Amino acid sequence: MPQTLFVLDFGAQYAQLIARRTRELGVYCEIVPHDVPWRELERRNPAALILSGGPESTLAAGAPDMDEAIVRSGLPMLGICYGMQLLARKTGAELVPLDHAEYGPATLVVENRETPLFDDVPAESRVWMSHGDSVVSLPPGYVALASTQRCNVAAIGNPEKRIYGVQFHPEVVHTRYGRTILGNFLGGVAGLARDWKMESFLERCVGEIRERVGSDKVICALSGGVDSAVAATLVSRAVGEQLTCIFVDHGLLRRGEAAEVVAAFRDLLHLNVVAVDARERFLTKLEGVEDPERKRIIIGHEFIDVFEREAAKIPGVKYLVQGTLYPDVIESKTPDSKAGEKIKSHHNVGGLPEKMGLALIEPLRALFKDEVRELGRALGLPPAIVNRQPFPGPGLAVRIIGDVTGDRLDILREADAIVRAEIDAADLDPRPWQYFAVLTPVKSVGVMGDGRTYANLVAIRAITSEDGMTADWARLPHELLERISARIVNEVRGVNRVAYDITTKPPATVEWE
Ligand code: XMP
Repeated sequence: MPQTLFVLDFGAQYAQLIARRTRELGVYCEIVPHDVPWRELERRNPAALILSGGPESTLAAGAPDMDEAIVRSGLPMLGICYGMQLLARKTGAELVPLDHAEYGPATLVVENRETPLFDDVPAESRVWMSHGDSVVSLPPGYVALASTQRCNVAAIGNPEKRIYGVQFHPEVVHTRYGRTILGNFLGGVAGLARDWKMESFLERCVGEIRERVGSDKVICALSGGVDSAVAATLVSRAVGEQLTCIFVDHGLLRRGEAAEVVAAFRDLLHLNVVAVDARERFLTKLEGVEDPERKRIIIGHEFIDVFEREAAKIPGVKYLVQGTLYPDVIESKTPDSKAGEKIKSHHNVGGLPEKMGLALIEPLRALFKDEVRELGRALGLPPAIVNRQPFPGPGLAVRIIGDVTGDRLDILREADAIVRAEIDAADLDPRPWQYFAVLTPVKSVGVMGDGRTYANLVAIRAITSEDGMTADWARLPHELLERISARIVNEVRGVNRVAYDITTKPPATVEWE
């Protein structure tokens, strides 16, 4: 059984970053809710734990807590910020609220080098702080390891129990030696072999899926996106012909996409693909629907209906593969994260009715998008698939604000094809994470030739992002924007104005609906 580190999540934003850093440092890692019971965690064979930071004070009533049995489990543990304070309180230290919370950069002074935690970290270095309470007394068996000017106890450790705590955030890039400190915990303290690679994940996944599925049949919904492509290829690597992929053309795809997807998977990757043309059906159901959540829910339900009907034609299916990623899990608020609030109903999570009677296989559930791409490369998928932009399950329906009609879909498809072609041709470095057109319900007055026009407003969205959780608008060259705008108003019937979306996420989201 390979060694897995678990991050106890006391506040989603921090936990993901810790998980990513840990994997970058060569240790496989998964995130669990802070209140996971020890008996459940124990079953997953943890090798070490990191307790994340979180937005609350441990002194507040009802503050996120953890199972005492985990503290006593004997596992190596690192508490970060909130995690350190909780560990300190649970092992008998005293905490006080600070008069002024400490946010931002501070200078860490290492005072004790008897433990491996600060190996290769200079006597003074920059760290990132974000806390309102402070540990003022040490729990029995602990020694103070470092301080900052405003925080006497900035790092503590119990070498015998291999439990450590740091008040600062080693996972953020602003902490100069953060990686070194995390690496010291994983290696020097916890004694973990730092040899995990995407190839090991691949092998482990293939083995686990093969064992779980046995000789049963598996189905997978292909969307054309990277996630389902990687998930399907991974499962086919494990169970070969036992996997059938179902591609539902809901009519909400980009220009030429349906044919491309089917060709790529059938001819190039040699997967078993059943293609279903459900375009009419989706359009009928969406008629007159303007509310974004209703659109998402209708599409989710329809999709499941069509999918179920197709699946029923394959006898003896027991498993369903989904390409759910970690950000989908937290943004749709499933029991995996108590911290996030629901933002949008991502139709690939949690919407599957029990009646389908299939067990889920979600091999990408712990990964971020860039990790999925890496896995895709490790699986030998071609760049055209691996580098595909993320595309929402509900497709162009959430990029047409208001009513979705065949006519409006045609307008958006043409405009979107121009945005993509021009940005691809510009060969930007780095390429934006996502770039597309949005059709708004706004009409405005224009003049074309000698005549007045009253036509649609199209918006362009191009963003940079690491994982889709936060995003910045891409600083596209003005000449490029000019070309896109000119082509859209000249070539796309019914559009006379183009706007560029310059909003970050948060407060906006990537998709407009
Ligand atoms: P938002 O709009 O939530 O998007 O900021 C974040 C990222 O997720 C994609 N997205 C989806 N992906 N199913 C998906 O698989 C969905 O329902 C969905 N909605 C948004 C979006 O394109 C962006 O990359």
